[in-house]
Amino acid sequence: MNLKNDLLLRAARGEKTERTPVWMMRQAGRILAEYRAVREKAGSFIKLATTPEMAAEVTLQPVDLLGVDAAIIFSDILVIPEAMGLPYEMVEQRGPVFPSTVHTLEDLQKLHIAEPETDLKYVLDAIKITKEGLAGRVPLIGFAGAPFTIFCYMTEGKGSKTFSVAKKHLYADPGFSHTLLQQITDSTIAYLKAQIAAGADIVQLFDSWAGILSPEQYRIFSLPYIKQICDAITEVPVTVFAKGAFFARKEIGELSCSVVGLDWNMDIAESRALIPDKTLQGNLDPCVLYSSYDQIRAEVKKMVGQFGTQRYIANLGHGVYPDTDPDKVRCFIEAVKEYSSL
Ligand code: CP3
Repeated sequence: MNLKNDLLLRAARGEKTERTPVWMMRQAGRILAEYRAVREKAGSFIKLATTPEMAAEVTLQPVDLLGVDAAIIFSDILVIPEAMGLPYEMVEQRGPVFPSTVHTLEDLQKLHIAEPETDLKYVLDAIKITKEGLAGRVPLIGFAGAPFTIFCYMTEGKGSKTFSVAKKHLYADPGFSHTLLQQITDSTIAYLKAQIAAGADIVQLFDSWAGILSPEQYRIFSLPYIKQICDAITEVPVTVFAKGAFFARKEIGELSCSVVGLDWNMDIAESRALIPDKTLQGNLDPCVLYSSYDQIRAEVKKMVGQFGTQRYIANLGHGVYPDTDPDKVRCFIEAVKEYSSL
């Protein structure tokens, strides 16, 4: 189906756009009262994420209510470990927890490579329903966690400031680490291909914990697996967002991806110089959205001025924070549209 608004895809492919496309990481399911109403009806995050009609409904909300140039499928990066045989729970006010974790090669033998058509059918169904609901208005973004970030959760079992349990494995048992990273990578490639077959127009990899690794460890334990995924996904553009990996920008820029996501620690001009041939995405500090309307507009103007309007997808530098006023979000989106129009 032809898209009415394909700004995001054109920008991703490096084509000219009449203005910069804008969307927000974590736009579905954090800030909208309309989301919380559906979430309450569902009873739990996991019920919502595994009920395709409801997942599709909350995926569409930001498109209808905020005016973003893309939808991102409502799900979580942790559906991959679950599909591999390691289920998670979502604890209210705390976040995800894995009742059991993996630490030895014997543990890994109990896992399997995810089979998306069975293990993750609910996501694929949600994508199909969302595409119908979108009716070509804007593209749909599919996503997955990068293997290293998923490895963190499967070994640590929950969020952590240091992920020292996960990192211990990298130093103490590289054989175990590479085996698990490869299992995750194979599962993720199958999963992203299935998302694309179901209708995802572009896919993003979230390496949310990239920044806890040293540059050397990042080159050994994260980049090669992201590279395998980028090389395998040839159907649609791929975005790589590696939070905190400022030290790896040049190498990320040399991957066969189309878009590189920046966080707010990454200088824009320096990033353009390090990554000359790709579209960049980002990178407003989500905390700017706590400031006044005038200040938000001024910060957006500065950001668009620094990126330039082409080969650019406007976004925050990480997910929008849950206590952000939706009117401030609308201000951010409108300001991008205004300041980037040719
Ligand atoms: O972008 C979107 O809005 C689509 C939905 C989406 C969710 N999680 C829904 C969610 C996406 C893209 C994610 C990705 C995700 N999940 C990441 C990568 C992005 C990032 O933030 O770095 C990570 C690290 C996770 C793991 C995760 N899931 C955490 C740490 C938490 C708890 C904190 C939080 O974000 O609320 C979750 C839970 C989660 N994932 C919720 C939602 C809507 C909240 C659960 C609830 O409603 O109770």
